[in-house]
Amino acid sequence: MLIVIEGIDGCGKTTIAELLKNILENKGYKVYLTKEPFRSDIKAIIKSIIEKKHDLNENFGKALSLLFAADRQIHQLEIKDKISKGFIVILDRYYHSSYTYQLLYKGVTLDFLEKINSSLLKPDYVFILDVPVDVAIERLMKRGITTEYERKDFLEKVRENYLKLKEILKEEKIFIINNNRNPEETIRDILSIIGIK
Ligand code: TMP
Repeated sequence: MLIVIEGIDGCGKTTIAELLKNILENKGYKVYLTKEPFRSDIKAIIKSIIEKKHDLNENFGKALSLLFAADRQIHQLEIKDKISKGFIVILDRYYHSSYTYQLLYKGVTLDFLEKINSSLLKPDYVFILDVPVDVAIERLMKRGITTEYERKDFLEKVRENYLKLKEILKEEKIFIINNNRNPEETIRDILSIIGIK
């Protein structure tokens, strides 16, 4: 089973993904938790762009989309291997992040993103953790804002894209989960949707 946890920076993905992993392991499941961007060398190139103010133009947009997609393609090997060995794979970000972040660049179209992400495993479930942008910013300020993606106006637009994702990826099981509450309540909703008691 491939479970994707998505949402804007500061929405609490990492906490929920780790909690979900622990709970599933305590129930006896083999769980592999991993995240994208995956490779530190590709992530370093990505960070060198998004840490600085840059135009949301076609060149940066396409370059970043391709870097994330290349990283993802390498990551697939490990994900497929774990799934074949019976692990539940929890993925902290997947191509849905490109459909929400890189789509904000001029000249980056859904068609382009679909093409460069077309050969990937489809997830069984996608959980978009939703919190108001102000709540996310408050959390981000505590750990320090490091990239242009963590600015309020940018995150407002990313959040809008996340809320529209169900209409774009109609064939996927996408659930928007309120994460502006106790993490246990979020986990309870996720477990009920994936049918694990
Ligand atoms: P993180 O390692 O701190 O989560 O950094 C990932 C950043 O990269 C985060 O701001 C979201 C962004 N991102 C994209 O813009 N597109 C993608 O496809 C992925 C996987 C992440």
